[in-house]
Amino acid sequence: MATWSAPGKVFLFGEHAVVYGKPGVAMAIKPRVTVTVRKHRHPPRVRSPYIEECFRSTGVKGSVYIRSQIPSSSGLGSSAAVTTATLAAISDEFGLNFSKEEIARRAFAIEKKVQKGRASPTDTYVTTFGGIVLITGDSKRRLPPQNLHLVIGNSQISHSTAKMVEHVAKERQHNPEIVDPILDAIGAVTTQAIKSMNKPQQLGKCMDINHALLEALGVGHPVLSKLVLSSRAAGAFGAKLTGAGGGGCMVALCPKHAKSRVAGAIDAMGARSIITTIDTKGIRKEKDG
Ligand code: PMV
Repeated sequence: MATWSAPGKVFLFGEHAVVYGKPGVAMAIKPRVTVTVRKHRHPPRVRSPYIEECFRSTGVKGSVYIRSQIPSSSGLGSSAAVTTATLAAISDEFGLNFSKEEIARRAFAIEKKVQKGRASPTDTYVTTFGGIVLITGDSKRRLPPQNLHLVIGNSQISHSTAKMVEHVAKERQHNPEIVDPILDAIGAVTTQAIKSMNKPQQLGKCMDINHALLEALGVGHPVLSKLVLSSRAAGAFGAKLTGAGGGGCMVALCPKHAKSRVAGAIDAMGARSIITTIDTKGIRKEKDG
């Protein structure tokens, strides 16, 4: 029996623009998925296509038991965390000796296959290694970790990443002279933010601008905007939607003392708050049982 866990993630800057080669910044966060794998000659059928693919691609047979603190389909990277933790547990249980690089690579291939080509390596890379990662095209660079106090607001409004990505592609086709400068501006905000990672006030301002630009792209949602506005009113340095938009989650950067007030403001609007901070470990082995 082998038990491994992997963290969730948020996009801090640059979602959507990252699809067009602009820089994006994602950060691993504390909530985790824990997966136990046990050798089994006749394992019960698994319902998750991600887990099915983990076993198929490694050619081994086993049973899985999952516990998750990450809400699924909310843009917090739960499928990537499940996939990397399962691969790590398989590698451990069957003595396959996968390195972290190998796990990230295999997990990305699995996400891409299950999601029919629609996956960026962001989630699988961030959940494997932890910390803060700068993504530009195919390149990934780890940035120095920062102890940012974040409050996530889950609108619990379902959304589809594929649909939102397609929406931006269509807008760009119809109005390139409007949409391209917005994507450029998002890239510029991300570049500015990277220089201010240890200055939360400036970082918050960058988040506010990034949110406005995402709304201009048409990936906002009235509920996300309300959560963003009330987080700012409750004392956040800045706030923005995170991930694909159109529903899902927003994230607020807060002074330490304002975290619970911001979380309260989010809950009061009928959304679910998660107070969190950086995870620097990525995938890790847990005690079995
Ligand atoms: O659905 P999420 O939270 O993983 O965010 C998708 C982010 C996009 O930039 C819209 C798409 C991508 O693959 O980077």
